[in-house]
Amino acid sequence: MSRAESKIDIAVLASGSGTNLEAIAAAIEDGEVPARIALVLSDNPYAFALDRARRRGIPTAVVELKDYPDRPAYDRAVLEQLQGAGVDLVVLAGYMKLVGPEIVEAFRGRIMNIHPALLPSFPGEHGVRDALEHGVKVSGVTVHFVDEGLDTGPIIVQRAVPVEEGDSEETLHNRIHEVEYEAYPLVIRLFAEGRLEREGRVVRVLPERT
Ligand code: GRF
Repeated sequence: MSRAESKIDIAVLASGSGTNLEAIAAAIEDGEVPARIALVLSDNPYAFALDRARRRGIPTAVVELKDYPDRPAYDRAVLEQLQGAGVDLVVLAGYMKLVGPEIVEAFRGRIMNIHPALLPSFPGEHGVRDALEHGVKVSGVTVHFVDEGLDTGPIIVQRAVPVEEGDSEETLHNRIHEVEYEAYPLVIRLFAEGRLEREGRVVRVLPERT
């Protein structure tokens, strides 16, 4: 698939500020990523990511856990939204929930997450803080496919971000964010161009077709 040939439809799942969503939308607008954001879905009705989407005219959905009897019912509602939007790829960008097994199964190899640390070190909600408290000198960004575990899926791309003397969680996270804004659009582009090949846990990036 070349950039000119076709675009993929993606859903972005976000619970918070949505700066990664913004970076992805901007890269799409600039013609760097052959994709369309068909849906922004959040579990948090107050997520600023939803405002960002609305401002760009992107369809939004809110699916709140409290409106469902249990977790599987909630996950089914999320899955219905994703399938209803007919998306090719699901992009988690600050989505603060573990994705249910039914969703992982339905989108295996077509669902990815960005994590603000070099996995498999420092998975979970506080990757930046945990790395800092551990005293690492280099942290970074990981984009990976999502499997049933917490931040355990096959790694697609990693970028290193040095820890600087006197860094706080905020200063380090700010620098990590800057790297995320490059890495996530790049990976979505590689996916859209059919250039990600998986063999077990190992993901290879195929060369650009000429
Ligand atoms: C990012 O740092 C991402 O790595 C993590 O959550 C943060 C989301 O930031 N999973 P934003 O909502 O995109 O600004």
